[in-house]
Amino acid sequence: MNDVQTAPPLPSACAVPLPAPAAKDATAAAPLLRAEGLSIGHGDTIIQRDLNFSLQPGEVLVIAGASGCGKSTLLRHLVGLQTPLAGRVWHGEVDFYAADPAAQSQLRQRFGVMFQGGALWSSMTVGENVMLPMQLFAPYSPRECEALARYKLAVVGLPDAFDLAPSALSGGMRKRAAVARALALDPPLLFLDEPSAGLDPMSSARLDTLLQHLRDTGTGLVMVTHELESIFAVADRLLFLDVHERTMTALGPPQQLLDSGPDTVREFLSRGDDSRGSR
Ligand SMILES: Nc1ncnc2c1ncn2[C@@H]1O[C@H](COP(=O)(O)OP(=O)(O)O)[C@@H](O)[C@H]1O
Ligand SMILES: [Mg+2]
Repeated sequence: MNDVQTAPPLPSACAVPLPAPAAKDATAAAPLLRAEGLSIGHGDTIIQRDLNFSLQPGEVLVIAGASGCGKSTLLRHLVGLQTPLAGRVWHGEVDFYAADPAAQSQLRQRFGVMFQGGALWSSMTVGENVMLPMQLFAPYSPRECEALARYKLAVVGLPDAFDLAPSALSGGMRKRAAVARALALDPPLLFLDEPSAGLDPMSSARLDTLLQHLRDTGTGLVMVTHELESIFAVADRLLFLDVHERTMTALGPPQQLLDSGPDTVREFLSRGDDSRGSR
């Protein structure tokens, strides 16, 4: 069942070496990502203010909070799509929004993003979707791109989807294809917005296994999710955004927050099945 743990070997037709996993030494490494005094919103409306957190290589940070608290908005700020109202977003040593467009463009190639809904281009096959970032940013031949895209699809459990149209896939398969596309350039940093919402339990567990594998090979992950099983399975730390306070009210390992976090966070982490999968 855990097919992603035994990912298929890289096809022999592919001459492109996969990058060596980053060393997993979370204490020594510089943060991959850091939010410093970050306030986010739309127009004059502040949705969340004074957010401070960082992400180390090989760490999974889950962003959680009630619907509408600003999780997707925060992700858009972290990936360079929305300018903060205040504060900074650091990618490594670079202050993203103070960097020039060329530097921003370079940074963008160092992370993968799966947005809520996992949109794929409907006019392209699944394989073409996964190859797109490679064609845009990597010096690979068409044959190498295809071999790598097939490999990424196999890694997410879709070995036969390369030639299919996105419309031929189920919702869960589309999400996994979007994860394969986010992995296309083997980014050291990955952003996922509700990757397992609406997935059946087996697909969800398979995705968790994949995320654990990525974490264990040094990838840093920022993931928005409501799913308690995913949180306890993969999150090293949970960042809780309070919809009423409009700021973060907890940051720490989920079990620690369940045991001794603020009441709202303990309630969130101890709720029953009935409230899972809400948006
Ligand atoms: N483009 C936008 N313009 C104005 N308000 C927005 C926009 N997108 C989202 N919002 C508002 O920002 C708040 C946070 O939205 P969102 O980040 O999508 O929340 P979450 O992902 O936590 O459910 C919500 O109140 C939403 O209505
Ligand atoms: Mg959202």
